[in-house]
Amino acid sequence: MSKRPIVTEQELSEQRLHMQKVHDMKEADAPKYHIVTYGCQMNVRDSETIAGMLEQMGYSAASRKEDADLVLYNTCCVRENAENRALGNVIWLKELKKTKPELLICVGGCMMQEDGVADRLIQAYPFIDLIFGTHNLHRFPQLLHRTLDQRTQVCEVLETDGEIAEGLPVKRNSAHSAYITIMYGCNNFCSYCIVPYVRGRERSRDAELILSEAQQLMDSGVQEITLLGQNVNSYGGGGAAFAELLYRLDKMGVPRIRFMTSHPKDLSDELIAAYKELPRLMNSLHLPVQAGNDLILDQMNRRYSRAHYLDLVRKLRDAVPDIGLTSDIIVGFPGETKQEFEDTMSLVEQVRYDAAFTFIYSPRAGTSAAKMTDPTPMKEKSERIEQLIALQQQIGQEILSEQIGLTQTVLVEGESTRNPGAICGKTERGHMVNFPGNVDLTGKLIPVRIISAGRNTLRGEMQS
Ligand code: SAH
Ligand code: SF4
Ligand code: F3S
Repeated sequence: MSKRPIVTEQELSEQRLHMQKVHDMKEADAPKYHIVTYGCQMNVRDSETIAGMLEQMGYSAASRKEDADLVLYNTCCVRENAENRALGNVIWLKELKKTKPELLICVGGCMMQEDGVADRLIQAYPFIDLIFGTHNLHRFPQLLHRTLDQRTQVCEVLETDGEIAEGLPVKRNSAHSAYITIMYGCNNFCSYCIVPYVRGRERSRDAELILSEAQQLMDSGVQEITLLGQNVNSYGGGGAAFAELLYRLDKMGVPRIRFMTSHPKDLSDELIAAYKELPRLMNSLHLPVQAGNDLILDQMNRRYSRAHYLDLVRKLRDAVPDIGLTSDIIVGFPGETKQEFEDTMSLVEQVRYDAAFTFIYSPRAGTSAAKMTDPTPMKEKSERIEQLIALQQQIGQEILSEQIGLTQTVLVEGESTRNPGAICGKTERGHMVNFPGNVDLTGKLIPVRIISAGRNTLRGEMQS
């Protein structure tokens, strides 16, 4: 395997120096930051690193952007509406800055890695103070220092794949459930997808460093670890390396292990065996299918067939009968016919997902699918997605009803937002349960008997 690209200790110590300098500049001000994160868990985890760096620089978190001295948008560009939302909100900050001229506006994330976007933003929105990409996240302290020092617009986006930066500070969103990024980038080039262009090629972290991060998290009381990567099955170059990592984490005693995302073409028998053998690997799996028709799957460059996918589902359910499966599905890929869409509907009926994220295809500049002709009117695509959502909603609800009467272990996340006075948390399979209880139980694993099912969540009562 090729050498792991790692940010040098010299570069990291330079960044620590810049953190110290910003800290000294800001010491008297008690400045506050507010981060808005779009996109996937990878971005959520990156924002935790940015927050960690900002806290070391003397900033503390503000829950509203109106109360912040620095507002940072961590953007996503996977679909056009994700971009539009981010951009619309950044533009709104111009108004906030009128009332608060010293407000610092920073924009980072995947959208900045898209060809020409950073340059366009710099030109069009002079009120943005700092623009950076995903490959130079670790250089944020130096870039912020330069922004504060020179009071000019700063923009740095690297074209080359990011090196892996180890040991950066992190401010975790939760004390009991944590993300660990195990690999960056993607080599798959699904024809619709922009991620490989903005996140670069696959790079895996060293297993020992992942395990020591997990150990530290466990020592601090974390109950659940979710391993992250665009395609975790190719961790360490593929083969059994990912399953091996799961075995080692399980042996370490991490109470709950989850991961995402898993590509069906690379899901190994070793991983299926791990589901059967490892008590701490939760019985849920996000296995995006994208489409149920072989021609569309081929045009998507997914490199598996419907039959192969269904075979994986069968093997997984043979190993773990009550495994909960979730999926991502794209409707209206260029040229998708009514019949091809019906194949997606029938696959959903056959698999019976606990939940599915459904998207209307969104052309992304630079991807190969963006060049394909797409005669299907948007109205037709909207009708298709409505049908799919209705079908999935019905199946999801049937699965929730099947949980009634079972006693499930729930990791308490805190007060229920929907039912004041109640607390909530997820079962091993990933269903959200609301039940009467004290918020002091947050972070504890509690047996809960399921008594009823709502539209998307369960209700239960604690078992003594
Ligand atoms: N690496 C992950 C997910 C990446 S993006 C995986 O392979 O599953 C998350 C989801 O966004 C994808 O699974 C896909 O369903 C959806 N998606 C990606 N590009 C899209 C596009 N151009 N239009 C619509 N949906 C898209
Ligand atoms: Fe995109 Fe496909 Fe890579 Fe997922 S596996 S990030 S959908 S290219
Ligand atoms: Fe979006 Fe980047 Fe994730 S494009 S989906 S935030 S990797």
